[in-house]
Parts: sequence; C-alpha cells; structure tokens
Amino acid sequence: MTLAEVDLYQAILARRSVRRYERTPLEPEELAQVRAVIAGVRPLIAENQYHVLLRDLPAASDLTAALGAYGRIANPPHVLVPYLLGDRHPLVDLGFRTEQIAVRLTALGLGSCFIGCLGREAEVRDRFELPGTAHLAALLVFGRPASAAAGRALNALVREVTGATRKLPAARIFHEEDFGHPTAPPLGLEPLIEAARNAPSAVDAQPWRFLWREGILHLFVKRWNPRYGPGLGQSYRLHDGGVCMGNISLALEALGREGSWAMYDGNGPGPPEHPEGLLPLARLELHQ
Ligand SMILES: Cc1cc2nc3c(=O)[nH]c(=O)nc-3n(C[C@H](O)[C@H](O)[C@H](O)COP(=O)(O)O)c2cc1C
Repeated sequence: MTLAEVDLYQAILARRSVRRYERTPLEPEELAQVRAVIAGVRPLIAENQYHVLLRDLPAASDLTAALGAYGRIANPPHVLVPYLLGDRHPLVDLGFRTEQIAVRLTALGLGSCFIGCLGREAEVRDRFELPGTAHLAALLVFGRPASAAAGRALNALVREVTGATRKLPAARIFHEEDFGHPTAPPLGLEPLIEAARNAPSAVDAQPWRFLWREGILHLFVKRWNPRYGPGLGQSYRLHDGGVCMGNISLALEALGREGSWAMYDGNGPGPPEHPEGLLPLARLELHQ
C-alpha cells in the first residue's frame, strides 16, 4: 500500500462522529480540498445524479438542532447538503456516496457528523431551495474538531487504528455458507469487514449483516431496527447499508483490490436463503 492508501484505510477505521467544533470557518484552501473530495465521489448507481451544497453555518445559529439533530452538536462552521435526483435506490446511493466524503474529510484531519433528515425532507428542501424531486437522507456538518485535545484524540485513533468501540464485533455480524452461526471472517475478507463494521449509522443502529458464500459477499440489513424508532426512521437501514457499502468500497480502493456491487432488486440473481428478519441489499463480487 502507498502512504495515501494507508491513510485512507486508517481514516475508514478511525473516523468517529465529531460533535464539538472550532468556531472558525475553514480556510479557503481547505474548503477547496473539501470541494475536490466532493468532486471525486464515486457513484453506486451511475444514472443517479448526486449533488452536494456546501453552506456556512452562522456562529450563533443552532441550525443543526433546527434541522432535527439529536443530541447537541456544538459550533459546526459548515454543512454539506447531499441530495440525489434519480429513483434507483436513492437512500442506499446517498449513504454510499456521502460516506466517501466523511472518510476523506477524516483523512484531511477534519471532523464531521451526519444529521439524519428522513421525515423532514420537505423542510430541508425548502430551507436550501432544492428541487421538489430531490431525495435526501442526511446532512453532514464538518469543521475542525473543537480542541487540541480532541484533535490529538483523533490522531491517536488514526495511529492506533482500532480500539475500544461500541461497534458490533465481526464475529456477530458475519456468516459463512449459511446463517447457522455467526463467525469470524476469513483472512482475506477481514479488512473489508473491519471497514464495514466501523461505519457510522443513525443512532448507531448498525443494521448490517453479511453472508460469505461461493466467493460472493452478500449484504443484508435488519428489516426492523428498534433504535431507529417507529415509522419513517426505519428507512435509515437503507441509507446506513449504503454507508457500510461505501466503507467497503473505500477499503477495496485502499487495499488495491477491486469488486463490484449489484443491488438485490429483482434484476439479477436472487439472494441466498436468509432469515425473514433480514432484507437482502446487495452482493459484492470480488475480482482479485
Ligand atoms: C444517517 C445518520 C444520521 C445521524 N444523525 C445524527 C444526529 O442527528 N445527531 C448526532 O449527534 N449524531 C448523528 N449521527 C451519528 C451517529 O450517532 C453515529 O454515527 C453513531 O453513533 C456511531 O458513532 P461514530 O460515527 O462515532 O462511529 C447520525 C449518523 C448517521 C449515519
């Protein structure tokens, strides 16, 4: 791996949501780097059009609360508003693409936090004057993490790569051959599953589950996730499944490997047998 690839892989594992920011806006050169990251995002579904607005947040505003963030997010100087035009798996594609931005911001030393907006799409469309057909799932606030200490903590995470975390262990979310018993992934898959399980998700629901069978990695999400709450919130499973796929694709890139995703939507081969509580999302074919 080149240094840039190591940095990318470490950023995938090290990224954590940042909820306290330095108030000062980023320098124009830094914002130019952020724009370059946005321009480099890869699609999941090529025909969908992905757009991202970059907006400054006024110092005194509590726009993040107004936009429906849970918990307190202090002083983020900027926000990205990703939206998608196109109707094929919009929530999955939004998660897939915006996670690439979140990870690459970490690699730039910047902090970020998603703010989910499912159920409040109309309000967000109005506020940012988006087209009526724009699909939305989450905004991404970003800036410099609040204190030198926070910055150091982030760097320590980047150095140590793994550490104490509330993320489900690989051996609880990964299955081989069938769904009999969860197990640890085989060596070649481990770095991919490690990247996947470190993905962010709304209220840390971690809906993803994996089945490895005949050289294909099948991704499922739990159909019902109590943490998402009743109603519309359940659709975060699609967005967060996409986020998880984004991490796997970034890991493939960092490891110099290739693979292609195909969605389970009735157009290609069907999913392997699975428990009723799981929704088949996509399959990953590894090319090397
Ligand atoms: C779609 C989505 C919506 C989120 N919404 C919020 C939010 O409104 N407020 C908040 O503090 N964190 C929010 N988060 C951050 C999650 O709480 C966080 O990703 C999760 O707890 C895992 O922690 P980590 O990102 O540090 O790994 C959101 C994350 C995602 C993916």
